[in-house]
Amino acid sequence: MKQKVRSKRKETSMAQREHWTSRFGFVLAAAGSAVGLGNIWKYPHMAGSNGGAAFTVVYLICIAIVGLPIVIGEFVIGRRTQLSPVGAFDTLAPASKWKYVGFLGVASAFVILSFYSVVGGWTLRYTFMALSGNFAELAGNSALSSETFEKFVSSSWNPVFWHLIFMGLCIAIILNGVKSGIERWSKIMMPLILAILVVLVVRGITLPGGMEGVKFLFLPKFSDLTASSIVLALGHAFFTLSLGMGTMITYGSYLERGQNLLSSSLWVVAVDTMIAMLAGVAIFTLVFAMGADPAEGPGLIFVVLPTVFPQMPGGVVWGTMFFFLLFMAALTSAISILEVVTAYFIDQRGWTRARATFIFGSVIGVVGLFCSLSLGGFTDFKTLFNLSFFDFLDYASSKYMLPIGGMLTAIFIMKKWGIPAFLTELHEGIEGKFRIPVRAALVLLSIAAFVVFMIILNEIWAVITGHPLVF
Ligand code: PFF
Repeated sequence: MKQKVRSKRKETSMAQREHWTSRFGFVLAAAGSAVGLGNIWKYPHMAGSNGGAAFTVVYLICIAIVGLPIVIGEFVIGRRTQLSPVGAFDTLAPASKWKYVGFLGVASAFVILSFYSVVGGWTLRYTFMALSGNFAELAGNSALSSETFEKFVSSSWNPVFWHLIFMGLCIAIILNGVKSGIERWSKIMMPLILAILVVLVVRGITLPGGMEGVKFLFLPKFSDLTASSIVLALGHAFFTLSLGMGTMITYGSYLERGQNLLSSSLWVVAVDTMIAMLAGVAIFTLVFAMGADPAEGPGLIFVVLPTVFPQMPGGVVWGTMFFFLLFMAALTSAISILEVVTAYFIDQRGWTRARATFIFGSVIGVVGLFCSLSLGGFTDFKTLFNLSFFDFLDYASSKYMLPIGGMLTAIFIMKKWGIPAFLTELHEGIEGKFRIPVRAALVLLSIAAFVVFMIILNEIWAVITGHPLVF
């Protein structure tokens, strides 16, 4: 009986499911999910304080060894089942506990979007600040810039207002579905992101002293590279490629058969990596040319850059372009996170898209509101590990939920679905000479799962004993 219901659901899902209009649209949407705050905000400051090019080399190795196999794995699971994560695992392993990996993905999406959209709101507010010339008074004054930023994020309603607008935009895009929502907006925003970034890079490297920033980012300083920066690079590879919560399974489920998923995955990973590098160059050339502090850490974007832009000729334009770029990158990622939650309610619960998007977009909006208020606007209450609610959600998702989800996905392919079945699906649309042997797939997925297992173990060890296994 259950089997009958399941196959009926599968038939209707295949027949009615929306699909990407083209391979280009799919690659842009998936790259849009990958390219986000992780590339433009996190990567540059991580590289800046962990050995520049030395960190970049490790990061690239992690992307290739851990990231790429899991990106491919998620796309293949999605395309095979034509379902979002819970249904996908349930179809490939009926009546087993594997569907809980899908539920973990939906939960991670919920958690991540709650704080991600708060930062998305900050990018929007800083775009308007730049546009209206408000950075002028911060020129060269990082103490004032830091105070302005702190005051903004810890105030009550101002950041909540911007967060709600940001969530509203996500809901508006997702309401329009795969083709006219996600694909259409990714096709508009991704080329714009790239174009703005290229303009900013050219501006940066042509500023006197700008090339110092390029050297800072790309000349390896192996002395600054510690074991913990390697762990950091691994964790970041996961976050930046949107892995471990079924985003790529969901996007893969809107694919029709026959597309070469190996080359599409390579494209997505390449675009993500290239944008991270370009963002690093754009930011550090400015920072060096203007004599600001490159090792500022997470405050680099919201504290240092607003002091730098007004010192440049045409600073209003450059500043607005930069924050608008950051906002668009955050938005193309945020919609992919909301889509994971929405698709679950459409696929598994039979809800309409409008109902799922409105209800869960609003619920996430409310949770995000508490996230924002936890930074000081409402109360200073602390959660576990003395973290604010905001930091706790960030910590729980990026240190545990995503890596665990990614590791279980790799294990699922090897142990439950089986490499031969996985490769049969992957090889659809791939020429014979590019086909992957079973043994190679097994080795790659095992390495990916093992490496992620070590990251999680390291983190748990650090929590229990107070110091990590590797540091
Ligand atoms: N990849 C996004 C970034 O680099 O900002 C963040 C992200 C999006 C993480 C989607 C996870 C996800 F499912």
